[in-house]
Amino acid sequence: MENKNFPKMALVFLSFLSLIAFSGATVSNMIGVNYGRLGNNLPSPARSIEILQDMNVSRVKLYDADHEILNLLSGKNIEVAITVTNDEISGIAANQRLADQWVYEHIIAHHPNTKIRFVLVGDEVFSSLSTDQDIQIARDLVPAIRRIKNTIKARGIRNIKVGTPLAMDMMEMTFPPSNASFKPELREFMTPLLKYINGTKSFFFLDVYPYLAWFENQTANQTNISLDFALLRSVNVTYTDPQTGLVYTNLLDQMLDSVVYAMSKLGYDNVMLAISETGWPHEGGSGANPNNAAEYNNNLVRKMTAVPSIGTPARPGQVIPTFIFSLYDEDQKYGPATERHWGMLTHDGSPVYAVNITRMG
Ligand SMILES: *[C@@H]1O[C@H](CO)[C@@H](O)[C@H](O)[C@H]1NC(C)=O
Ligand SMILES: *[C@@H]1O[C@H](CO)[C@@H](O)[C@H](O)[C@H]1NC(C)=O
Ligand SMILES: *[C@@H]1O[C@H](CO)[C@@H](O)[C@H](O)[C@H]1NC(C)=O
Ligand SMILES: *[C@@H]1O[C@H](CO)[C@@H](O)[C@H](O)[C@H]1NC(C)=O
Ligand SMILES: *[C@@H]1O[C@H](CO)[C@@H](O)[C@H](O)[C@H]1NC(C)=O
Ligand SMILES: *[C@@H]1O[C@H](CO)[C@@H](O)[C@H](O)[C@H]1NC(C)=O
Ligand SMILES: *[C@@H]1O[C@H](CO)[C@@H](O)[C@H](O)[C@H]1NC(C)=O
Ligand SMILES: *[C@@H]1O[C@H](CO)[C@@H](O)[C@H](O)[C@H]1NC(C)=O
Repeated sequence: MENKNFPKMALVFLSFLSLIAFSGATVSNMIGVNYGRLGNNLPSPARSIEILQDMNVSRVKLYDADHEILNLLSGKNIEVAITVTNDEISGIAANQRLADQWVYEHIIAHHPNTKIRFVLVGDEVFSSLSTDQDIQIARDLVPAIRRIKNTIKARGIRNIKVGTPLAMDMMEMTFPPSNASFKPELREFMTPLLKYINGTKSFFFLDVYPYLAWFENQTANQTNISLDFALLRSVNVTYTDPQTGLVYTNLLDQMLDSVVYAMSKLGYDNVMLAISETGWPHEGGSGANPNNAAEYNNNLVRKMTAVPSIGTPARPGQVIPTFIFSLYDEDQKYGPATERHWGMLTHDGSPVYAVNITRMG
């Protein structure tokens, strides 16, 4: 692939395949990138795929299952995660014909030329449960996942994992990690989800942001979490969990293990984790600047692509597939100013900072 359209600054993404065999499929510790499109005047899908290729991105996550993008990814050496949107969930849960149709249109029509490897049903479904409809969607989540998975399986496709990304606001407690738990009001949804994910050997997908934990801790006026600890800087800051004696050198591991222990409390000790979103904003709030964003993402890539895999203190050696949030700044996102500045690239596709992901194992 020619790189003549490559953005000015070097964005070097190189991922290494340390192939780990499990349940007939393989999952490697390649780094993926979220390709969100809530922005005005973003580069076209065709241009965006070129940019991903130039960055040597080997996995991309979409927030829908857009035909144009899936067509453009055909024949490309990029694994793809596609998303069933929240408003499609209840229909699919209620009706096998709708599930079949979804799978036919968005998977069968593109697989295997487009390397679809993950189907994510919904996006942070447990984070907004304010209306009856939200609660219905949460109840319909596992039935929808089951129908999608069954259709995929009936078609003889074995290399696609089905799951759902959840945000850390599902946690009642995260600290110390060994004492963590899910919010009790989510238990009715969480237990069937874990049962299904465990039974199908899929991943528990997490949207996990040390930046937000660090930021909230500061504004809550508590003991500050060290910025080094949040940025995955390997310095002298450590935290020892009093119950397990496990030593934490960064906030991300602490957050991941809090979910490990929360799952364990519900009887699930071996459900694998994947990170569907993580990143650091480069503008718009305390601690949000290009240096910190570059450092977090570079440190993240180094940690997640290490061979052999590092895992977390509670899950040493485990491969954790990881998607950085995000490819572009998205100016149509609501919320605090940082929400519109998570991109490694600005809305016109120019790099905000250099992420050098060239690592030789
Ligand atoms: C992408 O990977 C290829 C082959 O591994 C390498 O030659 C190229 O320099 C890489 N490009 C970037 C921008 O990292
Ligand atoms: C663990 O959590 C419980 C409440 O769930 C709390 O009472 C207890 O103090 C916590 N233990 C530690 C060591 O923080
Ligand atoms: C999780 O799945 C394994 C099989 O992979 C099974 O042995 C175990 O009992 C399951 N755990 C629960 C709590 O259902
Ligand atoms: C902030 O972090 C410290 C140290 O990790 C912890 O003791 C405290 O509970 C946290 N506060 C909040 C509000 O998260
Ligand atoms: C935060 O701490 C400062 C100084 O310790 C204090 O003046 C202020 O009232 C605190 N704010 C809150 C919201 O607790
Ligand atoms: C936490 O960090 C903020 C911002 O850097 C600072 O204003 C505040 O004084 C710190 N609080 C403590 C308890 O160290
Ligand atoms: C870590 O080391 C730096 C200097 O290298 C020092 O200023 C800091 O106090 C140390 N922090 C801890 C928690 O030991
Ligand atoms: C990226 O990192 C690799 C390995 O550390 C190094 O050889 C290479 O020169 C770096 N590339 C850039 C553009 O900084």
